[in-house]
Amino acid sequence: MTNEKKTEKLLPATAIILAAGKGTRMNSPLPKVLHPVCGKPMIENVIWACQQAGITDIRIVVGHGGSLVKTVVEKMGVQVFHQAQQLGTADAVRAAQIETLSGDVIILNGDHPLIQGEDLVQFFKNFREEKLDLAVITCIKKNPGQFGRIIRHQGVVRAIVEAKDASADTLKIKEVNTGVYLAKSEILQDYLPRIQNLNSKGEFYLTDIIALTVDDQCKVAPIVAAPRVSFGVNNQLELARANKLVFNKKARQLLESGVLMLDPQNTYIEPSVQVAPGSVIHPNVYLKGRTKIGPFTSIEPNCFVVDSDLGESVILRANSYLENCKIQNRASIGPFARLRPETDIGEEAHVGNFVEMKKVKFGAKSKAGHLTYLGDAEIGTDTNIGCGTITCNYAVDRKKYKTKIGNGVFVGSDSQFVAPISVGDNAVIASGSTITKDVPERALAIARPQQLIKENYVARPSEETPNNNEEK
Ligand code: UD1
Ligand code: MG
Repeated sequence: MTNEKKTEKLLPATAIILAAGKGTRMNSPLPKVLHPVCGKPMIENVIWACQQAGITDIRIVVGHGGSLVKTVVEKMGVQVFHQAQQLGTADAVRAAQIETLSGDVIILNGDHPLIQGEDLVQFFKNFREEKLDLAVITCIKKNPGQFGRIIRHQGVVRAIVEAKDASADTLKIKEVNTGVYLAKSEILQDYLPRIQNLNSKGEFYLTDIIALTVDDQCKVAPIVAAPRVSFGVNNQLELARANKLVFNKKARQLLESGVLMLDPQNTYIEPSVQVAPGSVIHPNVYLKGRTKIGPFTSIEPNCFVVDSDLGESVILRANSYLENCKIQNRASIGPFARLRPETDIGEEAHVGNFVEMKKVKFGAKSKAGHLTYLGDAEIGTDTNIGCGTITCNYAVDRKKYKTKIGNGVFVGSDSQFVAPISVGDNAVIASGSTITKDVPERALAIARPQQLIKENYVARPSEETPNNNEEK
């Protein structure tokens, strides 16, 4: 509901996200904006922030690795524009077909993954309340480094000077350009073509638009924001920092909401994950994607959980790996369990150590305690799967077949089920059986060679060594 309100408030607004730069300092074959921050390419975070703020016209300017970036971002419903040559930030904005713009525009960098929808909403609010033509988002930094410096005269903005082109005095200024701007579209249409490339890099700097518009008495002002907004990723160290900051923030939110976390600094929970209050997360746990954790559920160390739904009071023991599965209330899993996609573990069921499952519906209160592989299977309720059980689901025709085991079945250890196969309710499978025919309910199936006894097969020591005997 709040989003709908924001949408009404912000429309019509356009976002232009600059992402054509090479990212040389990443030293990586992957385009910079596709490097992941907490599981998502960093540019997705920027697009998501725009969408959260209710901006629907989102234009991405790509260049280096453009076709790869395009395939990633297009599925988020944005428009992609190519900047043929990287001639500078002003040229990049022009590449987004500024002649087709109307209303207010926000310009963002694709490598600023910490920016959030609420930040953008605030910027638009200030911009509109102050009836500005152009605003640059600034922040105050202890170490302003390579950021462009904001030049003010008697508090009023005059220009932005790039660090590379700045005098020693200018470099002392702590207020910097975050690289985020808001402008009326007419301002971009009028002034971008006037920007020249007379600077140390020979590039068309978007920052020059400030001095040009100020000279023409346009209404231009800086909007001071939190330092987080200026956080850009230029190398692997900054990428690692961005990850850490996002994980820490999520951990803090969860702690505040009542999740127990033994070592939040060493817990990796992506922002999209939902964890209910009262659950316990041990160190070195990684929770990813659409994962949901119910109340009073405990996740022990070194578990990796992707896109999975864990109910209430589940115990996930150490070193388990879960992917796209559902664990129902009070079930216990692991240690060392591997649950692969489309596995559904019923209430109070138990899956023990070194058990792998793929595409399995495992009934309530059933148990597979040790060393088992179940694939393409449906297991009823209250069934015991003995140690070393295997469903042979993959046949010589390279197709997968299903195993169906009913309720209350007892499967003895070291049994194999050659699918397609079905076992009726309350049947018993003798240990070591290779089941190739359906088993009716309440039947006992024994499918192993009969035990043969050869009496006196091994000679007694006294009979074995006649020479010794003779000596005695
Ligand atoms: C820019 C600003 C600087 C500001 C800083 C904040 C300019 C001239 N300088 O510097 O004042 O403090 O951002 O991070 O704008 N890009 C293109 N095409 C190009 C050039 C750049 O798409 O031809 C994109 C890059 O991919 C990046 C963004 O524009 O996302 C900024 O470019 P970058 O070269 O990183 O500018 P900075 O030197 O960081
Ligand atoms: Mg930069």
